[in-house]
Amino acid sequence: MTKRILSGMQPTGQLNLGNYLGALKNWVKLQDEGAECLYCVVDLHAVTVPYEADKLADSTREIAAAYIAAGVDPSQSTLFVQSAIPAHSQLMWLLATMTQMGKLERMTQFKDKAGKNKERAGLGLFSYPVLMAADILLYQATHVPVGEDQKQHLELSREIAATFNTRYGVDFFLQPEPYIMGEGTRVMSLRDGTQKMSKSAESDMTRINLTDDADMIAKKIRKAKTDPTPLPDSMEGFEGRPEALNLVTIYAALAEKPKAEIIAEFAGKEFSAFKPALSDLAVAKLSPITQRMNELLADKAEIDRILAAGTEKAQALANPVMAEAMDIMGFWKP
Ligand code: TRP
Repeated sequence: MTKRILSGMQPTGQLNLGNYLGALKNWVKLQDEGAECLYCVVDLHAVTVPYEADKLADSTREIAAAYIAAGVDPSQSTLFVQSAIPAHSQLMWLLATMTQMGKLERMTQFKDKAGKNKERAGLGLFSYPVLMAADILLYQATHVPVGEDQKQHLELSREIAATFNTRYGVDFFLQPEPYIMGEGTRVMSLRDGTQKMSKSAESDMTRINLTDDADMIAKKIRKAKTDPTPLPDSMEGFEGRPEALNLVTIYAALAEKPKAEIIAEFAGKEFSAFKPALSDLAVAKLSPITQRMNELLADKAEIDRILAAGTEKAQALANPVMAEAMDIMGFWKP
């Protein structure tokens, strides 16, 4: 059986180096290895937190442009928009009837996002993982590339699939496998090596956006937090130096080389020598992507055409699964 991959990103904020190295690059790799890939812009998830309605459609186009600029080929992979396919929300409702509140309460992302005031958190935020399960199960995806922070949600998707199958005595929904992306893909904040680089973090200096120009990239790397000690000559030397490790990780990922090789190359060097090398490399790797993204965004009609075609293809996969799920659950049909 060939792999069927499904993944998605939310149209909130701008994509950054972490999204590129940690996710998009792997999406492209899976596509190039011949897997059947479905990549979705999960806009229904994006509205579970405050957002600006008049910017949502453009943010959706921007994420799609980033997928394509990073190498997702719309003629090979199916690129689509979640909200344009009603079956996502419909399946979510069905799955909500077999998801325990207690399990949702244990989701760390909910706890983080809801903060102290859980009573006032929205039902959308609470049921977010059920929608994610619907996204995945609707396409009978075999593998889901996700970062560390989404593993818990994927595990829940597997449990929901199993509950459906047991409750209705069928072998219908597949239990999707996580596809955990290779070592060194976890990119951390430039200001705090213990926090993930995030598109929603307040300070823009914590991340390199895919739309940053060369000067901005150089400035952010120059100002990135480090420590006064030169670079060590082994992995152990990074103990207690998360910022130093992060910069070397980024370098290795951009250069597509093992970390050990980069460590050997820069052992004993000062950050004042390492940082300019890192910014040259980052600019060289990112500027073609930024340029392609800007070209794509200059022609919204073309992006819309690509998304409409992908959405039609995805819909053709989703609708029969949706219909069968309803059938299994015993609903009347017209
Ligand atoms: N929750 C994911 C995130 O924030 C986004 C997402 C929604 C997703 N639906 C998905 C990822 C389905 C993989 C598969 O990163």
